[in-house]
Amino acid sequence: MQNRLYIWVILKTCMLQDSIRVYAPATVANVACGFDVLGFALYEPGDEIIMRKTNSNKTEIISITGDGGKLSRDASKNTAGVVVDAFLAHIGQKIGIAIELHKKMPLGSGLGSSAASAVAALFAINELMGQPLTRMEMLPFAIEAERIACGAAHADNVAPSLLGGFTLIRSYDPLDVVQLSTPADLVATVVHPHIEIRTEDARSILRKSVALKDAIIQWGNVGGLVAGLLMADYALIGRSLHDQIIEPLRALLIPNFAQVKQAALNAGALGCSISGSGPSIFALSTSPEKGKQIANAIADAFKQINIASDCYVSFINTEGPRVLD
Ligand code: HSE
Repeated sequence: MQNRLYIWVILKTCMLQDSIRVYAPATVANVACGFDVLGFALYEPGDEIIMRKTNSNKTEIISITGDGGKLSRDASKNTAGVVVDAFLAHIGQKIGIAIELHKKMPLGSGLGSSAASAVAALFAINELMGQPLTRMEMLPFAIEAERIACGAAHADNVAPSLLGGFTLIRSYDPLDVVQLSTPADLVATVVHPHIEIRTEDARSILRKSVALKDAIIQWGNVGGLVAGLLMADYALIGRSLHDQIIEPLRALLIPNFAQVKQAALNAGALGCSISGSGPSIFALSTSPEKGKQIANAIADAFKQINIASDCYVSFINTEGPRVLD
């Protein structure tokens, strides 16, 4: 089986292009009640990678833009470089790769910045090598990259970024990822206040155990949200966007969180919570117009305490990463 894969890769490699430009989307992880198990992809923002084959025999990050100099240019320490090396080792190829990473989304924002870079790099190398792996087969490499980025191999950003739409991590061991349906009218509003929270820090404040009464509320909502997505029952989705366990703790890291959330609900959101580990806030609604009103309401609530923010209003991205040229 492995030998057939090698031969197939070698044959395909001879016929393939030498460079590619790809885009991978930002994501909203947790989706209120599904800490580490639920996520969905956005159309905007996202990361762009230009990748080309070289004669150097090693993976190099030749430039990064949009990160304010914060990310490592050392390919062995940057998620984009790490996934490429792991991918090439897996398919038994040793070639040189040059990566240009264009961060088109904020770091430390709760929008899956490291995941978008890892997914863009994986998607690009898989295309350059003739698609030897399916997206599902690429997923473990992206999950491993999250361990390097934030110390925890969580999949709720990389899975939706790579697969598109809403994803459920039914199990981590063994890995079992389920692609959920996306109701056609669902619109996500994401507002990124200009403060930074590192995922590592936002995870370190969490309690290690959960009271049974809270767990009952939480898994009721996870089930309700999944059922709501499958049935396109927007009211059920709204009722289920409640986080009994994580949000009360992480809300302490986001100034005026209660007011911000109430502003979103008053503006017509089905529900509202923290995007991933924050500080971004997400809300779901049923039209782009409503999505924009909610964005304005959230941004105004942050503005009242002198915090500027960026807003994104997007249908759910069911496509995942894509080739730009
Ligand atoms: N599930 C992860 C967390 C997502 O909440 O820590 C990080 O973006």
